Amino acid sequence: MTQTPRLPVNAIEVRGLKKTYKGSRKSPPKTALRGVDLTVPRGSMFGLLGPNGAGKSTLINIIAGVVNKSEGTVRIWDRDIDHEARDARSALGVVPQEIVADVFFTPREALEALYRLKNLAKT
Ligand SMILES: Nc1ncnc2c1ncn2[C@@H]1O[C@H](COP(=O)(O)OP(=O)(O)OP(=O)(O)O)[C@@H](O)[C@H]1O
Ligand SMILES: [Mg+2]
Repeated sequence: MTQTPRLPVNAIEVRGLKKTYKGSRKSPPKTALRGVDLTVPRGSMFGLLGPNGAGKSTLINIIAGVVNKSEGTVRIWDRDIDHEARDARSALGVVPQEIVADVFFTPREALEALYRLKNLAKT
């Protein structure tokens, strides 16, 4: 008998997330997130809205592993971004708003590079 794999209840779980960007000689430290709790249930669609400077990009960048958080926990598909970083990242897809196509690659080459990064078979 085949067992159905148990899927996580939540796609994303963020608890007590805080971020303060370090200051420099020119600018003081800046707190962008003061304790964010967020649950995105599996199978749902979620839109993150807020005024400029609210911390949306900071939150997304922490979830994507591009920005280091100051405090709190993030789980993606039930994988902790600190303790299961690789698994957490592999459970996440990010489509940036900026154009990220490499001008030196043809579309086919770009796809082939992605296959190799993701360890997928060529089809
Ligand atoms: N690298 C950084 N160093 C210092 N402060 C930063 C840095 N990145 C963002 N901030 C500050 O953190 C706060 C949150 O910025 P963030 O870019 O996350 O907001 P946002 O909601 O994405 O804004 P927008 O709608 O303009 O994209 C802002 O006050 C911003 O100036
Ligand atoms: Mg932003």
